[in-house]
Amino acid sequence: MKNSKPKSASRQIPLWVLIEPLKKPLKNQWRLAALTILAGWGKFILPMGVPLITGHLIDDVLMQPANTETRMDLLRLGAVSVVLLFFLAIAAYYRSALAQELASNLQHNLRRRMFHHIQRLSMRFFNRHHAGSLGSRVSSDITYAGVVVDKGLIQLSLDGLSLLTLGGVMLFINPWLATLCFIFLSGNAWVVRHYSPGIRDGRKSIQEQQSSVTGRAAEYFSAITVVKAFAGEQQSGRAFSASSEQVRDLQVANSKLQGSFQSLSNTLVIACQIAVALVGSWMILYHPSSLSRGDLVGFLLFVGLINGSVQRLTDSLIQIQDGFAALERIHDILDIDPSPADKIDALTPTLTGNLRFEDVKFGYQKKQVLFDLSFELEAGKTYALVGPSGSGKSTLTQLMLRFYDPWEGQILLDQYPLTDISQSHYRHHVAVVLQDPIIFSTSVRENIGFAVDNATDEAIEKAAKAAQAHEFIMEMSKGYDSPLGERGVALSGGQRQRIAIARALMRDPRILILDEATSALDSVTERNIQEVVDELRGTRTVVIIAHRLSTVRNVDEILVMEKGRLTERGDYQTLKAQDGLFAELLEQQKMERDEEGG
Ligand SMILES: Nc1ncnc2c1ncn2[C@@H]1O[C@H](COP(=O)(O)OP(=O)(O)OP(=O)(O)O)[C@@H](O)[C@H]1O
Ligand SMILES: [Mg+2]
Repeated sequence: MKNSKPKSASRQIPLWVLIEPLKKPLKNQWRLAALTILAGWGKFILPMGVPLITGHLIDDVLMQPANTETRMDLLRLGAVSVVLLFFLAIAAYYRSALAQELASNLQHNLRRRMFHHIQRLSMRFFNRHHAGSLGSRVSSDITYAGVVVDKGLIQLSLDGLSLLTLGGVMLFINPWLATLCFIFLSGNAWVVRHYSPGIRDGRKSIQEQQSSVTGRAAEYFSAITVVKAFAGEQQSGRAFSASSEQVRDLQVANSKLQGSFQSLSNTLVIACQIAVALVGSWMILYHPSSLSRGDLVGFLLFVGLINGSVQRLTDSLIQIQDGFAALERIHDILDIDPSPADKIDALTPTLTGNLRFEDVKFGYQKKQVLFDLSFELEAGKTYALVGPSGSGKSTLTQLMLRFYDPWEGQILLDQYPLTDISQSHYRHHVAVVLQDPIIFSTSVRENIGFAVDNATDEAIEKAAKAAQAHEFIMEMSKGYDSPLGERGVALSGGQRQRIAIARALMRDPRILILDEATSALDSVTERNIQEVVDELRGTRTVVIIAHRLSTVRNVDEILVMEKGRLTERGDYQTLKAQDGLFAELLEQQKMERDEEGG
């Protein structure tokens, strides 16, 4: 059984820390919680009438000769039972319905909080986690956490309350037999204490592995074109089944623990019943004054009730371990600070778009990618960033967006260090078209107007026209309302780029970054978009990253990057005349074009 050792068996987070995310929503719902507990208490307490009625029947009715008195007694007991049943039905209904409502409200609250929190986490975090497994955190983890409320907080307080009530009644009927019961109950409490941590750790490992299975499946399915094109089904199937096998192994290991737990607890419960029956019979035979037959039958029925409650408790304790494990995972995520974080007194200045890099060093994990970059981009000018693949151009734009903070040095925007400016304020002033444009599974309109408040139809259409997208959008059956993505129209690479360009133009940004934004377009469309970008000149800072050097002919200045360093800088003609990397790249592309041409 490989890999079955729980990964996270290391530390136990204290209970009150774990349930912290539940506290606030629970506080807001305390009335509902109190009503649920009241209903649950009723549902538990009311059946206690049955042993009382039974004891009364045996000792006071059955032992009497049949007469009008006993007939009246029977009728009275019947009437009491009907009332009892009526309230029991009501209590049972509310216990279940209210608990569900409460759990659903809490889950909704927690789901929202998780989603908002995860969205604000750093790019480093997202580089490390599968989107699919994060999806499972906001869905299945939250569902499990709801169990803690229903089976946990509510059921525990209920059973606690009921055991106290039952214990009191039993002590009253017969203290000796009650003490005997308590001994068995403490045995059960020990079993719970002994087994719970191990089961919880196991459940947490299972959930972690399960969400990684979900993540893996999501990854393969979203890359299904590659999987199919490379006939990689067998390989991905093998990788998936290895992941799934780990879940199974963990589950099998955990089920052994759960089995011992339930078997021990169950044995104690039955042993308690047998012990009470034997000791009770002994008392009736040899000390008849201490216990009546009716009392013993009533007492045994009480023990049945107590044991039912203990068994329910142990069952739900296993389910709660799932919930606690999920709460641990939720806690692990909520515990991560969003980074880079805004300073408390983050600025929201008016921005013109002057961007300066001062001795910036940066890398992902340990590998350095950018070395001592120092340069300034003046507001309103258009720049091109060129250089071989892997030289760090996209990385540079990620720093401009403050997806990451530099290792050393700083980036200034209009004299303000980027780290001092409120991120959401700043990002309202930059727009970017990423190298691999993302299209959401919403309508064309929502895709273009994304994150712009109150985007008007006119503005959306204007942006689409500028991005050369209007025409193909109008060819779709529902125009701007056509759904895109998963359940809608699949766009071509160039169409995706144009939607992304329209989205960027919509924002009316101070700084516009186009990372290979027109690489998938034909030259006519590309030229048209270039004209639009040229029109922006003087009003916005534009940074264009391009491999096709013909597209950067008109920019104010070209920055050439090589292996994470800025090696050349100047306008097209100057760089062309120099004997440097740019001239070399230009020459290469010219040769390629010539070869194509003839
Ligand atoms: N998320 C990441 N984690 C780790 N390394 C990364 C990450 N993104 C990029 N890199 C590395 O940083 C280096 C620069 O990558 P970058 O994407 O900035 O290059 P680029 O100039 O944009 O290349 P291209 O022209 O091919 O788009 C590469 O060596 C790459 O492996
Ligand atoms: Mg790139």
